[in-house]
Amino acid sequence: MKILGLERDNTTLMSSPDAFGWEYSASFELYPFHEGKDRAVYKGIMNGRGPQRAQLCVVKAKLDRFGSPEDWEPVQEVVRRATALATSFNVLVNARVISFLWPKVAELSTVSDFTPLIRIFKKHDKYLKKEEMVVIEDFLEGDFETFNSTVGWIDPHSKADITQAFSHYTWHATRSLVVCGLQGVAEGRRFRLTTPTIHSRDGKYGESDGGVAGVMEFFSTHRCNNICSAWAGPDVPDIKCARDINVHHPRPCNRPRRNCNMYIPPYHSHVDYVPKVPSAPIFDSTRF
Ligand SMILES: Nc1ncnc2c1ncn2[C@@H]1O[C@H](COP(=O)(O)OP(=O)(O)OP(=O)(O)O)[C@@H](O)[C@H]1O
Ligand SMILES: [Mg+2]
Ligand SMILES: [Zn+2]
Repeated sequence: MKILGLERDNTTLMSSPDAFGWEYSASFELYPFHEGKDRAVYKGIMNGRGPQRAQLCVVKAKLDRFGSPEDWEPVQEVVRRATALATSFNVLVNARVISFLWPKVAELSTVSDFTPLIRIFKKHDKYLKKEEMVVIEDFLEGDFETFNSTVGWIDPHSKADITQAFSHYTWHATRSLVVCGLQGVAEGRRFRLTTPTIHSRDGKYGESDGGVAGVMEFFSTHRCNNICSAWAGPDVPDIKCARDINVHHPRPCNRPRRNCNMYIPPYHSHVDYVPKVPSAPIFDSTRF
């Protein structure tokens, strides 16, 4: 909407469809409530014909550049893969505990002309531009928490063993990737999570994919709990379990030796090793 010839609102065109085929556009605030290492995050509201019309959303824009479709494609691919793994994990634990928000991609339709004024009071780095691509996600109400980081760090006070087990499961089930960087909101025993990271053997999951080094770094701080202790970790024959070697490490593996197939390379120095992909069955549910 225009006031005296000046555009008032930040808005998007209709997004790509969500899992049910609904498309939404968003109107959102004139300054981000968060600017992280990668994105500016705005609070907004969804418009459209679907059931989520008039619900709160977040709009995420690339912080350091004009967002293109190619910027968000890998993000969607990560969420697609993480969601498929969450589905099989949920079947395994017999509860719908883990889900990921779907990032709907949309083009900016209008950018408010009042932003320069707002910027005086609410300093922020991002300069939105018309036609740049952003994503729209459901707004997560409640305490937004980080359950594990992209390098596997775990909040020692977190009761969220199931999220740590999920990350471990993703390796166990695929032997080629680990889904981590789990952040979002716990609603009872359910975790609604947003934009995770995948580290993969092929390094094909976008900018945040740390490849084999990322996988190893994740497992070097992952500590198994009673859900995941029998599951496979990366099989790296020449490197010992953290418990047995003298490397500086904040959270060494404390699993019984017979189960310990977490191999810990010297911290931050494991970029060259490619884990062996075993021919063994992918998953043995009787051990869960
Ligand atoms: N769907 C959501 N609902 C509510 N808040 C959200 C949502 N997604 C992200 N946030 C908020 O925005 C912050 C940053 O989001 P995100 O991790 O996607 O961006 P980032 O650039 O990687 O930021 P950081 O470097 O802080 O991780 C989160 O810590 C959270 O506070
Ligand atoms: Mg982040
Ligand atoms: Zn584990």
